[in-house]
Amino acid sequence: MGFFDRLKSPAATSSRARVISFLNQKGGVGKTTMAFNTAHALASRGHKVLCLDMDPQANLSLLFGIETTSYQLHHLLVNSVRELKALHVPALVDDLLVRGKVDLLPSGQELSGFELTVAGIQGARQLILKLFLEKSGLLDRYDFILIDCPPTLGLLVVNALCATHGVMVPFRPDEFSLKGLVHLGDVLANIEEMGVSETPQVIAYIPNLVDLRRKQEEDDLEKIRLHLARELGHSKLTTPFQNKASLVKSQAQKKSVFDYQSKEFAPLQANFSEMVDLIQEWSDARN
Ligand SMILES: Nc1ncnc2c1ncn2[C@@H]1O[C@H](COP(=O)(O)OP(=O)(O)OP(=O)(O)O)[C@@H](O)[C@H]1O
Ligand SMILES: [Mg+2]
Repeated sequence: MGFFDRLKSPAATSSRARVISFLNQKGGVGKTTMAFNTAHALASRGHKVLCLDMDPQANLSLLFGIETTSYQLHHLLVNSVRELKALHVPALVDDLLVRGKVDLLPSGQELSGFELTVAGIQGARQLILKLFLEKSGLLDRYDFILIDCPPTLGLLVVNALCATHGVMVPFRPDEFSLKGLVHLGDVLANIEEMGVSETPQVIAYIPNLVDLRRKQEEDDLEKIRLHLARELGHSKLTTPFQNKASLVKSQAQKKSVFDYQSKEFAPLQANFSEMVDLIQEWSDARN
């Protein structure tokens, strides 16, 4: 992107990146899928975007075509903690950064040992990612940083949330999802006590893998909408994502839905464009 494009970019007015986490403690609801495609949707509108893979499963890194790297995000995080000097490795952000339409800091198995690695430190264990993003200068280099969270509410996710301004919550509307979403709301409310100046705001809940031909799903969705509005004071639900074989196809080819011209992908592109509109609206309101 050239200098003038950057000036045109709506987020260019704010100097620091907005950090957005894709979050749900439930597995298989579409966090990685949404993070990957939303990142590409933002990039196609001229934003400079970094993806952080905070999941030791490294599914997001795989979508970027990264299978194994000797050093990953885990090492950068450990390197950023002075107390862990004995474990530091010669890894720098710019060596690890995978550059493309969207940039990536990849994950790997080692990240599953993060909690244990930092267990004994005196400093705030929940603020390691936040301080890393500040010290590394990454916040000043991007318009948006998108974090793909693992399906837990452990220390990795708490670190993601302490560094996060906004949250996107994909979910499958079934009889169990409501309880999970309310619990998630409680976790977000508690982040305030973790030593951060702001609690992350939910930008949108994203109903995924919805079968709108089933009356039951439509009813469940409406129930969830009403309940979230009552419990949390607001509930922004996006247009539901249907079960789309073309989404799986694009992932198998390690592409975003924006890499295809065919009509088949138009509904998915519309879904992700709506996501960008919501993010933009939320971001503008913060200025
Ligand atoms: N709308 C959709 N249509 C079809 N397949 C989908 C859709 N959304 C997600 N999937 C598929 O469902 C699977 C799970 O999605 P994804 O990996 O994004 O979920 P996740 O929440 O990141 O999972 P985990 O919690 O394990 O990290 C993937 O194989 C993905 O291709
Ligand atoms: Mg995932």
